[in-house]
Amino acid sequence: MKDSYGFIAPYYNRLAKLVFGNQLALAKQSFISDLRKKKVLIIGGGDGKDYQIYQEGLQGDYWELSQAMLELAKKNLPKSSLNFQWGYFRQVEDQTYDEIWLHFVLDTMLDSEIVELLDQLKKSLVPSGSIFLVDFFQPTTLKSKVLQFLMISFFRIAAQHKRKNTPDYEELFKRCLWEKEEEHIFLKCWIKAQLWKKSDG
Ligand SMILES: C[S@@+](CC[C@H](N)C(=O)[O-])C[C@H]1O[C@@H](n2cnc3c(N)ncnc32)[C@H](O)[C@@H]1O
Repeated sequence: MKDSYGFIAPYYNRLAKLVFGNQLALAKQSFISDLRKKKVLIIGGGDGKDYQIYQEGLQGDYWELSQAMLELAKKNLPKSSLNFQWGYFRQVEDQTYDEIWLHFVLDTMLDSEIVELLDQLKKSLVPSGSIFLVDFFQPTTLKSKVLQFLMISFFRIAAQHKRKNTPDYEELFKRCLWEKEEEHIFLKCWIKAQLWKKSDG
């Protein structure tokens, strides 16, 4: 399997900090609490650097498609009790988590892949569990629209991203019967951190 992030993995975090300062890390830390009591599933966690301050309380599974990113995550999170797994997330029979973290990963997927994943993840969460989503939403200012266009173009070349736009997360989550519980906004609504629970309906 080709490593789409192989080339940019060593620079990814520095590049993100250069463009966005600490905003992405802050968004990713939004809802993190009481980790020692939780089993967490992290999909597409990248180099794991922004989770370093929490590593001692982190337990569960860490799935990464990029071998280069996964190796960095193992080095950056040596004190965690995470199981590092390479490849596309696969549901393991009877394996459930208290939280599932999807941080800047769904924007790398097509709508059909997101729907398939969101349906699959229902079986991976305990009934009271939640998905913690953080990602880029529709930009609202001229500056963020220009920056978003440049970012999408860059990642289409550097990491073979398939999308030309941002997913309509809310529509996709609702279609898959998830219910939004809480939201924090960053950079004038361009980045949102959201908690989603399984809906009864
Ligand atoms: C844009 S990067 C974000 C990395 C990290 N979450 C962060 O915020 O810095 C997306 C990451 O998701 C990984 N990825 C994409 N699709 C994936 C999948 N289906 N399963 C696991 N990892 C995936 C990529 O390899 C890449 O490292």
